Amino acid sequence: MKLISGSSNRTLSEAISSYLNVPLTQVSMKRFGDNELFVEIMENVRGEDCFFIQSTCYPANDHLMELLIAIDALKRGSARRITAVIPYFGYARQDRKTGGRTPITAKLVANLITAAGADRVLTMELHAGQIQGFFDIPVDNLIAAPVFVPDIKNKFKGSNLCVISPDVGGVVRARAFAKRLGADLAIIDKRREKAGTSEVMHVIGDVKDKVCIIVDDIIDSGGTLCNAAGALKEHGAKEVHAYIVHGVLSGGAVARIADSPMEKLVLTDSIPATEAMTGVHNIEQLSVASLIGEAIRRTSEERSISALFR
Ligand code: R5P
Repeated sequence: MKLISGSSNRTLSEAISSYLNVPLTQVSMKRFGDNELFVEIMENVRGEDCFFIQSTCYPANDHLMELLIAIDALKRGSARRITAVIPYFGYARQDRKTGGRTPITAKLVANLITAAGADRVLTMELHAGQIQGFFDIPVDNLIAAPVFVPDIKNKFKGSNLCVISPDVGGVVRARAFAKRLGADLAIIDKRREKAGTSEVMHVIGDVKDKVCIIVDDIIDSGGTLCNAAGALKEHGAKEVHAYIVHGVLSGGAVARIADSPMEKLVLTDSIPATEAMTGVHNIEQLSVASLIGEAIRRTSEERSISALFR
C-alpha cells in the first residue's frame, strides 16, 4: 500500500500514517510562475494500491485541482489501484439545481475525479448520501458516529439527553444518533412566515431541562447552529452541545460560536483547525484518523467497511 498526502490536511494524513504504520510517500508539489500546479510522486508506485488523502476544503478549487493532478500522476505512474480519500468532500451542498440555469457542481466534481483516473472514493459524512450515486466507481461514505458516540456517552452518562436536528434536512442523521444513544429526538423547523420578516425557529419535540446535542454534517458560517442553540435555550434546554463533522468555519463563524450560548462544539479533524480556533473555550476537535486509517486498511485487504459501523 502507498499512502500519499495532499497539502490540505497534512496533520490528519500523518495521524493516518502512524495509525497504519505506513510512511507517507514522498511527493513534490510546485507552483509555476503563473500559479499552475505541478505534482511529482517521488517513489515508485507501479503495481501499488495507492491512497491519496485530500480534503477539498478552503481553498477548495486549489485543493480539488491538486487532487485531480495527483490522481493523474499516480495513474501515469502505473499504480494498480487509486483510491481518492476525501475526508471532507467540498461542493457537496451543490447537489441539485436550485433554479433555472444553475449547475449541479457535486456531480461535476464526481465526474472530474473519475475522469482523472480514481478507481474508488473513500469519504466521510457526505452532505447527502445520494451523492454516492454521482460516481460510477465504488464510494465508501464513512459515518462519524464511531468517533462521536463514545465521546457523548462518556461525557453525558446519566444525563437526560435529546438529539437535535438543526433543520429538517438533517433528521435522518439525527435520528440515527438518537438511536445509538437511546436518546430522544427533536427537530428545529426554520420558517419565514412572511417575506421580509425574520425567520422563526419552531422546536418540534420536548427539550425542557434536557441536555441537547445538536448533530449536523457541516458548520460553515455558524448561523444554523447558533440560531438553533438560541432557540433551544429559549425552550428551556438545560445545556446545548453540538457534534458537527466538518468545520468549514468561514467568515466570523469562530467568534459567533464563542459568543453563543453553546456549552461546547465538537468537530472532527476532516478539515484542519484554523488559528482562529486556538484558545476558543467552547470548540474542540476529535480525530477521525483511526476511523479513516481502519477503512483504508480494510479497503486494501478487501474486508468489510460496514462492519465498522455495527
Ligand atoms: C445544510 O443543509 C448543512 O447541513 C448545514 O446545516 C449548513 O451548511 C450550515 O451552514 P451555516 O453554518 O452557514 O449555517
